[in-house]
Amino acid sequence: MIKGQTSEEKVKNLLADCSFFKGVESHVSLPSTNDRGRALADIGAPEGTVILAEMQTAGRGRLGRRFYSPQSEGLYMSLILRPEKDFVDVGLITACAAVAAWQAIQQLTGIKVDIKWVNDLFYQNKKLCGILAEGQFRPSGELDYMILGVGINVTTPVGGYEEEIQNIAISLAEIADGSIIDKDALCAEFVYRFSLLYQRLPQTDFLEIYRAASCVLGEKVCYKREGTKEIAMAVDIDEKARLVVERENGEIEHLNSGEIHLLRTIL
Ligand code: BTN
Repeated sequence: MIKGQTSEEKVKNLLADCSFFKGVESHVSLPSTNDRGRALADIGAPEGTVILAEMQTAGRGRLGRRFYSPQSEGLYMSLILRPEKDFVDVGLITACAAVAAWQAIQQLTGIKVDIKWVNDLFYQNKKLCGILAEGQFRPSGELDYMILGVGINVTTPVGGYEEEIQNIAISLAEIADGSIIDKDALCAEFVYRFSLLYQRLPQTDFLEIYRAASCVLGEKVCYKREGTKEIAMAVDIDEKARLVVERENGEIEHLNSGEIHLLRTIL
Protein backbone atom coordinates (compact mmCIF):
# COMPACT_ATOMS: atom_id res chain seq x y z
CA MET A 1 0.00 0.00 0.00
CA ILE A 2 1.30 3.46 -0.87
CA LYS A 3 1.21 5.93 2.04
CA GLY A 4 -1.22 8.80 1.60
CA GLN A 5 -3.52 7.02 -0.83
CA THR A 6 -7.22 7.67 -0.45
CA SER A 7 -9.70 4.83 0.07
CA GLU A 8 -10.82 5.22 -3.53
CA GLU A 9 -7.27 4.84 -4.83
CA LYS A 10 -6.53 1.88 -2.56
CA VAL A 11 -9.70 -0.01 -3.43
CA LYS A 12 -9.15 0.69 -7.14
CA ASN A 13 -5.58 -0.60 -6.97
CA LEU A 14 -6.56 -3.69 -5.02
CA LEU A 15 -9.31 -4.50 -7.51
CA ALA A 16 -7.33 -3.63 -10.63
CA ASP A 17 -7.64 -7.23 -11.90
CA CYS A 18 -11.29 -7.73 -10.97
CA SER A 19 -13.36 -7.17 -14.14
CA PHE A 20 -16.64 -7.13 -12.16
CA PHE A 21 -15.54 -4.00 -10.27
CA LYS A 22 -16.52 -0.81 -12.11
CA GLY A 23 -15.55 2.00 -9.76
CA VAL A 24 -15.74 3.31 -6.23
CA GLU A 25 -16.99 6.45 -4.57
CA SER A 26 -15.89 7.17 -1.02
CA HIS A 27 -17.57 9.68 1.33
CA VAL A 28 -16.73 11.09 4.73
CA SER A 29 -20.38 10.86 5.77
CA LEU A 30 -23.62 9.77 4.13
CA PRO A 31 -27.11 9.16 5.47
CA SER A 32 -26.86 5.65 4.02
CA THR A 33 -24.57 4.16 1.38
CA ASN A 34 -27.60 2.21 0.12
CA ASP A 35 -29.41 5.49 -0.62
CA ARG A 36 -26.38 6.82 -2.49
CA GLY A 37 -26.25 3.52 -4.39
CA ARG A 38 -29.89 3.99 -5.42
CA ALA A 39 -29.26 7.55 -6.58
CA LEU A 40 -26.30 6.40 -8.69
CA ALA A 41 -28.16 3.38 -10.07
CA ASP A 42 -31.08 5.64 -11.04
CA ILE A 43 -28.77 7.64 -13.29
CA GLY A 44 -27.32 4.51 -14.86
CA ALA A 45 -24.28 3.58 -12.75
CA PRO A 46 -23.16 0.09 -13.79
CA GLU A 47 -23.20 -3.14 -11.85
CA GLY A 48 -20.00 -3.41 -9.84
CA THR A 49 -20.03 0.20 -8.59
CA VAL A 50 -19.05 0.48 -4.91
CA ILE A 51 -20.04 3.22 -2.46
CA LEU A 52 -18.16 3.66 0.81
CA ALA A 53 -18.70 5.97 3.77
CA GLU A 54 -16.62 6.60 6.88
CA MET A 55 -19.89 7.01 8.81
CA GLN A 56 -23.63 6.88 8.19
CA THR A 57 -26.14 9.15 9.86
CA ALA A 58 -29.14 7.01 8.92
CA GLY A 59 -27.64 3.57 8.35
CA ARG A 60 -30.39 1.00 8.18
CA GLY A 61 -30.72 -2.70 8.76
CA ARG A 62 -33.32 -5.30 7.92
CA LEU A 63 -36.85 -5.17 9.26
CA GLY A 64 -36.78 -1.37 9.55
CA ARG A 65 -33.99 -1.36 12.12
CA ARG A 66 -31.24 1.20 12.42
CA PHE A 67 -27.64 0.15 11.73
CA TYR A 68 -25.29 1.91 14.14
CA SER A 69 -22.52 3.38 11.94
CA PRO A 70 -20.15 5.54 14.00
CA GLN A 71 -17.28 7.37 12.35
CA SER A 72 -14.29 5.25 11.30
CA GLU A 73 -15.37 2.20 13.33
CA GLY A 74 -16.82 0.10 10.53
CA LEU A 75 -16.86 -0.81 6.89
CA TYR A 76 -20.07 0.67 5.52
CA MET A 77 -20.41 -0.17 1.87
CA SER A 78 -22.94 -0.75 -0.89
CA LEU A 79 -22.61 -2.44 -4.23
CA ILE A 80 -24.82 -1.87 -7.26
CA LEU A 81 -26.07 -5.08 -8.91
CA ARG A 82 -28.02 -5.52 -12.10
CA PRO A 83 -28.78 -9.26 -12.12
CA GLU A 84 -29.59 -10.93 -15.46
CA LYS A 85 -33.31 -11.14 -16.15
CA ASP A 86 -33.31 -14.93 -16.28
CA PHE A 87 -31.47 -15.25 -13.01
CA VAL A 88 -32.80 -13.17 -10.19
CA ASP A 89 -32.89 -14.87 -6.85
CA VAL A 90 -32.46 -12.30 -4.13
CA GLY A 91 -32.09 -15.00 -1.45
CA LEU A 92 -29.17 -16.62 -3.26
CA ILE A 93 -27.53 -13.30 -4.09
CA THR A 94 -27.56 -12.23 -0.44
CA ALA A 95 -26.31 -15.68 0.60
CA CYS A 96 -23.36 -15.10 -1.81
CA ALA A 97 -22.73 -11.86 0.06
CA ALA A 98 -22.76 -13.62 3.45
CA VAL A 99 -20.26 -16.21 2.24
CA ALA A 100 -18.07 -13.53 0.59
CA ALA A 101 -18.01 -11.50 3.83
CA TRP A 102 -17.22 -14.68 5.77
CA GLN A 103 -14.35 -15.46 3.36
CA ALA A 104 -13.01 -11.88 3.42
CA ILE A 105 -12.95 -11.88 7.22
CA GLN A 106 -11.20 -15.23 7.28
CA GLN A 107 -8.66 -14.00 4.73
CA LEU A 108 -7.84 -10.86 6.71
CA THR A 109 -7.99 -12.18 10.28
CA GLY A 110 -7.57 -15.94 9.99
CA ILE A 111 -10.78 -16.32 12.03
CA LYS A 112 -13.77 -18.40 11.02
CA VAL A 113 -16.89 -16.58 12.17
CA ASP A 114 -20.45 -17.92 12.18
CA ILE A 115 -23.20 -17.30 9.65
CA LYS A 116 -26.55 -16.79 11.33
CA TRP A 117 -29.45 -17.22 8.94
CA VAL A 118 -30.55 -15.12 7.16
CA ASN A 119 -27.32 -13.29 6.45
CA ASP A 120 -25.70 -12.01 9.61
CA LEU A 121 -22.18 -12.85 10.72
CA PHE A 122 -21.73 -13.60 14.40
CA TYR A 123 -18.87 -14.46 16.72
CA GLN A 124 -19.58 -15.99 20.12
CA ASN A 125 -23.24 -15.07 19.81
CA LYS A 126 -22.51 -11.41 19.05
CA LYS A 127 -23.16 -9.66 15.77
CA LEU A 128 -20.22 -8.60 13.65
CA CYS A 129 -21.76 -7.95 10.25
CA GLY A 130 -25.17 -7.34 8.70
CA ILE A 131 -26.30 -7.41 5.07
CA LEU A 132 -29.19 -5.48 3.58
CA ALA A 133 -30.29 -6.16 -0.02
CA GLU A 134 -32.78 -3.71 -1.48
CA GLY A 135 -34.37 -4.12 -4.90
CA GLN A 136 -35.76 -1.51 -7.27
CA PHE A 137 -38.52 -2.81 -9.54
CA ARG A 138 -39.84 -1.52 -12.88
CA PRO A 139 -43.60 -0.88 -13.34
CA SER A 140 -43.67 -4.23 -15.20
CA GLY A 141 -42.59 -5.95 -11.95
CA GLU A 142 -39.13 -6.80 -13.31
CA LEU A 143 -36.10 -6.10 -11.14
CA ASP A 144 -34.26 -3.03 -12.36
CA TYR A 145 -31.34 -3.14 -9.94
CA MET A 146 -30.37 -4.26 -6.49
CA ILE A 147 -28.33 -2.44 -3.86
CA LEU A 148 -26.37 -4.77 -1.65
CA GLY A 149 -25.37 -3.08 1.60
CA VAL A 150 -22.78 -4.56 3.93
CA GLY A 151 -21.89 -3.25 7.37
CA ILE A 152 -18.98 -4.78 9.30
CA ASN A 153 -17.95 -3.65 12.78
CA VAL A 154 -14.19 -3.23 12.40
CA THR A 155 -13.25 -1.52 15.67
CA THR A 156 -15.17 -0.98 18.90
CA PRO A 157 -15.94 2.66 19.73
CA VAL A 158 -13.99 4.07 22.69
CA GLY A 159 -16.21 3.42 25.71
CA GLY A 160 -17.92 0.53 23.95
CA TYR A 161 -21.08 0.22 21.89
CA GLU A 162 -24.16 2.21 22.79
CA GLU A 163 -26.32 0.65 25.49
CA GLU A 164 -28.93 -0.85 23.20
CA ILE A 165 -26.39 -3.08 21.44
CA GLN A 166 -23.49 -3.34 23.89
CA ASN A 167 -24.22 -6.97 24.75
CA ILE A 168 -24.97 -8.10 21.23
CA ALA A 169 -22.35 -6.36 19.06
CA ILE A 170 -18.68 -7.22 18.54
CA SER A 171 -15.94 -5.93 16.25
CA LEU A 172 -13.19 -7.56 14.21
CA ALA A 173 -10.55 -5.84 16.35
CA GLU A 174 -12.03 -7.52 19.45
CA ILE A 175 -12.03 -10.97 17.94
CA ALA A 176 -8.62 -10.55 16.32
CA ASP A 177 -6.94 -9.47 19.58
CA GLY A 178 -6.70 -5.80 18.66
CA SER A 179 -4.89 -6.33 15.36
CA ILE A 180 -5.41 -3.55 12.84
CA ILE A 181 -7.75 -4.45 10.01
CA ASP A 182 -7.42 -2.44 6.80
CA LYS A 183 -10.99 -1.49 5.82
CA ASP A 184 -10.08 -0.86 2.19
CA ALA A 185 -8.49 -4.30 1.94
CA LEU A 186 -11.58 -5.79 3.58
CA CYS A 187 -13.82 -4.00 1.09
CA ALA A 188 -11.72 -5.13 -1.89
CA GLU A 189 -11.54 -8.72 -0.62
CA PHE A 190 -15.32 -8.76 -0.15
CA VAL A 191 -15.99 -7.40 -3.67
CA TYR A 192 -13.56 -9.87 -5.24
CA ARG A 193 -14.96 -12.89 -3.35
CA PHE A 194 -18.54 -11.81 -4.00
CA SER A 195 -17.88 -11.37 -7.73
CA LEU A 196 -16.60 -14.96 -7.99
CA LEU A 197 -19.70 -16.42 -6.31
CA TYR A 198 -22.24 -14.11 -7.95
CA GLN A 199 -20.92 -14.62 -11.45
CA ARG A 200 -21.16 -18.41 -11.03
CA LEU A 201 -24.85 -18.31 -10.09
CA PRO A 202 -27.06 -20.33 -10.58
CA GLN A 203 -24.32 -22.69 -9.36
CA THR A 204 -24.83 -23.04 -5.64
CA ASP A 205 -21.86 -25.07 -4.45
CA PHE A 206 -20.91 -22.06 -2.26
CA LEU A 207 -23.84 -23.06 -0.04
CA GLU A 208 -21.61 -25.82 1.33
CA ILE A 209 -19.49 -23.07 2.93
CA TYR A 210 -22.68 -21.40 4.17
CA ARG A 211 -23.88 -24.65 5.76
CA ALA A 212 -20.51 -25.45 7.33
CA ALA A 213 -20.29 -21.95 8.85
CA SER A 214 -23.89 -21.90 10.05
CA CYS A 215 -24.42 -21.54 13.80
CA VAL A 216 -28.07 -22.39 13.31
CA LEU A 217 -28.10 -25.89 11.86
CA GLY A 218 -28.80 -28.55 14.47
CA GLU A 219 -30.20 -25.92 16.85
CA LYS A 220 -33.71 -25.35 18.13
CA VAL A 221 -34.92 -22.04 16.80
CA CYS A 222 -37.81 -19.75 17.55
CA TYR A 223 -39.53 -17.78 14.76
CA LYS A 224 -42.82 -16.12 14.01
CA ARG A 225 -45.33 -17.65 11.63
CA GLU A 226 -48.45 -15.65 10.86
CA GLY A 227 -47.95 -13.76 14.12
CA THR A 228 -47.55 -16.90 16.24
CA LYS A 229 -44.28 -18.03 17.87
CA GLU A 230 -43.06 -21.38 16.64
CA ILE A 231 -40.25 -23.59 17.87
CA ALA A 232 -38.56 -25.98 15.49
CA MET A 233 -35.27 -27.69 14.75
CA ALA A 234 -33.11 -26.08 12.02
CA VAL A 235 -32.17 -29.03 9.83
CA ASP A 236 -30.79 -27.64 6.55
CA ILE A 237 -30.21 -24.73 4.20
CA ASP A 238 -31.88 -25.61 0.91
CA GLU A 239 -30.66 -24.85 -2.63
CA LYS A 240 -32.37 -21.43 -2.52
CA ALA A 241 -30.67 -20.55 0.79
CA ARG A 242 -33.96 -20.98 2.66
CA LEU A 243 -33.81 -22.36 6.19
CA VAL A 244 -35.38 -25.80 6.46
CA VAL A 245 -36.97 -26.40 9.86
CA GLU A 246 -38.67 -29.45 11.32
CA ARG A 247 -41.50 -28.72 13.69
CA GLU A 248 -42.33 -30.91 16.67
CA ASN A 249 -45.19 -32.53 14.77
CA GLY A 250 -42.69 -33.59 12.09
CA GLU A 251 -43.84 -30.97 9.56
CA ILE A 252 -41.06 -29.54 7.40
CA GLU A 253 -41.08 -25.85 6.52
CA HIS A 254 -38.77 -23.81 4.24
CA LEU A 255 -38.37 -20.29 5.64
CA ASN A 256 -37.74 -17.56 3.09
CA SER A 257 -36.94 -14.57 5.22
CA GLY A 258 -37.69 -13.06 8.58
CA GLU A 259 -35.84 -13.57 11.79
CA ILE A 260 -35.01 -16.53 13.97
CA HIS A 261 -33.60 -16.76 17.47
CA LEU A 262 -31.53 -19.64 18.77
CA LEU A 263 -33.37 -21.10 21.71
CA ARG A 264 -30.19 -21.69 23.71
CA THR A 265 -29.33 -17.97 23.59
CA ILE A 266 -32.72 -16.78 24.84
CA LEU A 267 -33.36 -19.34 27.60
C1 BTN B 1 -28.84 -5.71 9.27
O1 BTN B 1 -28.05 -5.94 10.17
O2 BTN B 1 -30.06 -5.89 9.41
C2 BTN B 1 -28.31 -5.20 7.96
C3 BTN B 1 -27.32 -4.09 8.16
C4 BTN B 1 -26.81 -3.49 6.87
C5 BTN B 1 -25.95 -2.29 7.12
C6 BTN B 1 -25.31 -1.77 5.87
S1 BTN B 1 -24.09 -0.55 6.22
C7 BTN B 1 -23.99 -0.13 4.55
C8 BTN B 1 -25.40 -0.17 4.00
N1 BTN B 1 -26.07 1.09 4.19
C9 BTN B 1 -27.10 0.99 5.03
O3 BTN B 1 -27.86 1.92 5.37
N2 BTN B 1 -27.23 -0.27 5.44
C10 BTN B 1 -26.23 -1.14 4.85
